[in-house]
Amino acid sequence: MGSDSGWIQVYAPATVANCGPAFDTLGFALERPGDRLAARWSAKPGVRLIEISDESIGAEHNLPLPRDPAKNTAGIAAIKALKLAGASAKRGLELKLHKGVPPGSGLGSSAASAVAAAWAVGELLDSSLPRQALLEACLEAEAAVSGRFADNIAPALYGGFVLIRSYDPLEIISLPVPPTLRLVIVRPHYRLLTKRARAVLPERVTLSAAVRNWANVGALVAALYRDDPALLGRALQDEIVEPARAPLIPGFAEAKAAALQAGALGCAISGAGPALFAIADEAGPLERIAQAICRVFQAHGLESSVYHSGISTRGVHRI
Ligand code: HSE
Repeated sequence: MGSDSGWIQVYAPATVANCGPAFDTLGFALERPGDRLAARWSAKPGVRLIEISDESIGAEHNLPLPRDPAKNTAGIAAIKALKLAGASAKRGLELKLHKGVPPGSGLGSSAASAVAAAWAVGELLDSSLPRQALLEACLEAEAAVSGRFADNIAPALYGGFVLIRSYDPLEIISLPVPPTLRLVIVRPHYRLLTKRARAVLPERVTLSAAVRNWANVGALVAALYRDDPALLGRALQDEIVEPARAPLIPGFAEAKAAALQAGALGCAISGAGPALFAIADEAGPLERIAQAICRVFQAHGLESSVYHSGISTRGVHRI
């Protein structure tokens, strides 16, 4: 990654979307992993992704990410952010993307790339492009590849826990990060595309399931304000999306049960999966919980990566 001749560098974090019952509505930012992106102006007009390197991708990820800026969320978000800033169509921009968030992991990989690129455009323009405008740019990018949802991009942009109260118009509400909340992420090594995980969702839901879900979303928000990880754990129940997606994650029910048995206060799919996240309080046995989940995936023939991360309160930033 370049650091001279006009290059600037930006870091955008991975995110956990849905938080159990709050499908497309609530997410939070992790300290790591994250994507790094270098950007600079160039004399040649247009946005170009001149390099994509990857520390996140193991043998299980053999699909290359598109270098075409019209197909990669970093390129799409950069083009849209330039447009929103009123930059000349002749403006040239070069991007180098260093992936730290594995694609198809459920950790907001496409969102991290989009947010990094939109933020870099704001930095280069030294402009007062508000975060809301950057969010619009990233939403367009996410919609082009996965679907129109903001519960990854909003926390990556704003940091902490973020609620999307409304999509039209966009209304984002930042929520408190409970000081005693601890978490661990386990990512089984296979790629699940968000498009596929959205294709299995039900078009209709029963009123009784909806009632239980929105009660849990309310409890979840209360738990954040009260710094109450036990309540948060009880609120991580989703009767609508999780049952539809569970069959896409080998061993999911066993892994979740093993996490709770090992002392987790709650456990749910991260975003569209296949990664899971489990929460605890300050005394929680995070390593034991992670190992319990890994053992289940192992029994289903899957290696896993474990991420011990705090919650990022600042989100995307220049490095
Ligand atoms: N809310 C989105 C979904 C997030 O669950 O499909 C995707 O990571």
